[in-house]
Amino acid sequence: MEDEDVVGALEGKVIAVTGAGRGIGRAVAIAAAAEGAAVVVNDYGVSVDGKEPTSEVADAVVGEITAAGGRAVANAQSVTTMEGGASIVQQAVDSFGRIDAVVCVAGILRERMLFNMSEDEWDPVIATHLKGTFTVFRAAAPIFREQKSGTMIGFTSGAFAASVAQANYSAAKGGIVSLVRSAAAGMYKYGVTANCIAPVARSRMSGQVPFGLEMGEPEDVAPMVCFLCSDHARGVTGQVYTVNGGRVAVWNQPHEVREMRKDGRWTVEELAARFPEVGQEPMPILDRLKEMEAAARSGQKPNQ
Ligand SMILES: NC(=O)c1ccc[n+]([C@@H]2O[C@H](COP(=O)([O-])OP(=O)(O)OC[C@H]3O[C@@H](n4cnc5c(N)ncnc54)[C@H](O)[C@@H]3O)[C@@H](O)[C@H]2O)c1
Repeated sequence: MEDEDVVGALEGKVIAVTGAGRGIGRAVAIAAAAEGAAVVVNDYGVSVDGKEPTSEVADAVVGEITAAGGRAVANAQSVTTMEGGASIVQQAVDSFGRIDAVVCVAGILRERMLFNMSEDEWDPVIATHLKGTFTVFRAAAPIFREQKSGTMIGFTSGAFAASVAQANYSAAKGGIVSLVRSAAAGMYKYGVTANCIAPVARSRMSGQVPFGLEMGEPEDVAPMVCFLCSDHARGVTGQVYTVNGGRVAVWNQPHEVREMRKDGRWTVEELAARFPEVGQEPMPILDRLKEMEAAARSGQKPNQ
């Protein structure tokens, strides 16, 4: 065959992708297999709000990959338990002999304003996104440490910066950014990398985004994930990348921007008097909300 000499960017690697039955995870699994990786396709097969699990969703993607000549196995466990996370990594080792990257895409939504949010809307969202990234990272970490290589990828969202009606989702996504940065720091001396993707892509989940947003396809996100899992990205770690259609952007690292000092403890009056020296940092979402309010008052559609 003519193509035999063409070596994919992930040839010889074994990659586990969670939430790989639909949307972005599916696109990542298919692209990784096309780049030569053997893939564990994990998906609990649930509705957008995390209910009614079925194993058919993961099986279907494995069918697509194998029909195209790739290598893949299905895993229908939930990432929310330690056993589920461990089973995904174990299945990679049992089926393909090793694990080189874990990509945690699984997610659900339970939108509600903070003043109405119940424990049943908070806990499963945190469990699926934040704990569901931890369970898989945790299972892979000792193996990566031992082999002195490996890639961890978490999926965050621009909503980690703040969200009006998704405090649970925003908190989980902010947690994932901190988990990924901590993994990058903690695993640095073992040659292991950890990065985050903040995707924007048309899927059943983004169908619920309340306002119009320029949006690419799940397949547009996959190449960046494959790049980060490949040897091309060996030294890339601790980063957050937005991927939307043909746009890739890097987020800044959190750091202090201003300070004020005195000798000893402040009084409230002193703080009130000198507060402008530290002041506030602009919060972009508040400006956008003001814009939307003004537009609503004047009966216009806000600028997208
Ligand atoms: N689509 C976007 O524009 C967008 C924007 C920001 C962030 N994200 C994030 O990207 C990721 C993928 O989103 P998507 O749009 O492809 O969503 P999607 O709903 O199409 O896919 C998510 C998949 O995760 C699976 N899943 C849910 N709970 C699970 C569990 N406990 N264990 C294993 N699998 C589980 C679902 O069955 C589903 O197939 C999510 O983490 C999401 O928060 C997406």
